[in-house]
Amino acid sequence: MTKGKHVILCVTGSIASYKAVDIARRLSDSGINVSVVMTDAARQFMSPLAFEAVTRNKVYTNLFDDPLSHVTLPQNADLFLVAPATANTIGKFASGIADEIVSAMFMAFEGTVLIAPAMNEKMFNNPVVQKNIKNLTATGVRFIGPDSGSLACGYEGKGRLADTGEIVEAVISALSPKDLKGKNIVVTAGPTVEAIDPVRFISNRSSGKMGYEIARAASRRGADVTLISGPSPLVPPFGVSFIKVESASEMEDAVSKKFIKCDSLVMAAAVSDFAPSAFSRKKIKKGGLDVLKLRRTPDILQSFGKKKGKKLIVGFAAETGKDIGSAKKKLMSKNLDMIALNDVTQEGAGFNSETNIVTIIDRNGGVSDHPKMKKIEIADIIIDRMLRLWEKGGKR
Ligand code: CTP
Repeated sequence: MTKGKHVILCVTGSIASYKAVDIARRLSDSGINVSVVMTDAARQFMSPLAFEAVTRNKVYTNLFDDPLSHVTLPQNADLFLVAPATANTIGKFASGIADEIVSAMFMAFEGTVLIAPAMNEKMFNNPVVQKNIKNLTATGVRFIGPDSGSLACGYEGKGRLADTGEIVEAVISALSPKDLKGKNIVVTAGPTVEAIDPVRFISNRSSGKMGYEIARAASRRGADVTLISGPSPLVPPFGVSFIKVESASEMEDAVSKKFIKCDSLVMAAAVSDFAPSAFSRKKIKKGGLDVLKLRRTPDILQSFGKKKGKKLIVGFAAETGKDIGSAKKKLMSKNLDMIALNDVTQEGAGFNSETNIVTIIDRNGGVSDHPKMKKIEIADIIIDRMLRLWEKGGKR
């Protein structure tokens, strides 16, 4: 969604400027063209070479190197980010001072501006800095952070640069189309865990990545997203309401609380089909169990498919083999609008992989094969297909 977009990343003189290298790298990795601009003070902390290496672009450091770059570069940029932003740079922006390259470019830029401040807490709380932030916010500038925590000066307080992941997410989100605005989407992800005793459980190999990427992509595109996840090491995407569950029954309860208000349910979770018929409160001793009796867990998708009304319901079919017939059967029997089939035995598809290979089947009989691609790209394709179904069926 953000490939080919152009972001100006301004780095100013804070010890947190080393974190800007990570921001530049992550934005570049997302296909964004990043031009870094540094103040003289930033160059006391970091070399332009570090930014040149990660962005593969020229770094701008001097207003007079090229008499027009402070105007031409902003003209061709989609977003202006300052991270970290010092009290001095914020003050210049708020007062209309443009005596060096960063403040001159800010003055010449007309689009979305994001500022991530980083400074000592006393400086941040200074009424002049607060007034400058208020005035800039009133002109449409958006501030990210700062966070609270230990500061480089030895103080504890508010002034730390916001998490670099949060800053990157804010940029990508601001650059994404808002075609899901007004939609409420519930996404499930990860495995469920069915306890045998306090130590052991039945589960599966799902990492949760596909569901987390769908939640991330939907949130970036403006949806109000709730992510309900079984145990997963993944960090929930910024801007998403997160509910952590363990078992299939807990997942069913969590979905049922959110289902009434949602426009769509996307069940990417690998719900365990079986649970032990009884839970032993005490650890079962080695010789204490020969046969493990199982019961079926609730089929969450099936039960909400029955109550779907005008909601759009999306399922996944994890198969060992490209079994389109079985996926179509699941689509029909669970009353879905769309199902994404993946053959978990293929290399680069399924559990724990950064990529996936899916075939998407919709209720109108549309079938499309998608080659191996990153899960975030597949998430956007699934959302595009959901939007098309919404268009066809009015507000479903
Ligand atoms: N699903 C569910 N509740 C279950 C099992 C599955 O909601 N107890 C959902 C999954 O989240 C997925 C879809 O149903 O979106 C299909 O899951 P899958 O494991 O492929 O199929 P099953 O219905 O479990 O059937 P089988 O395991 O026999 O293929």
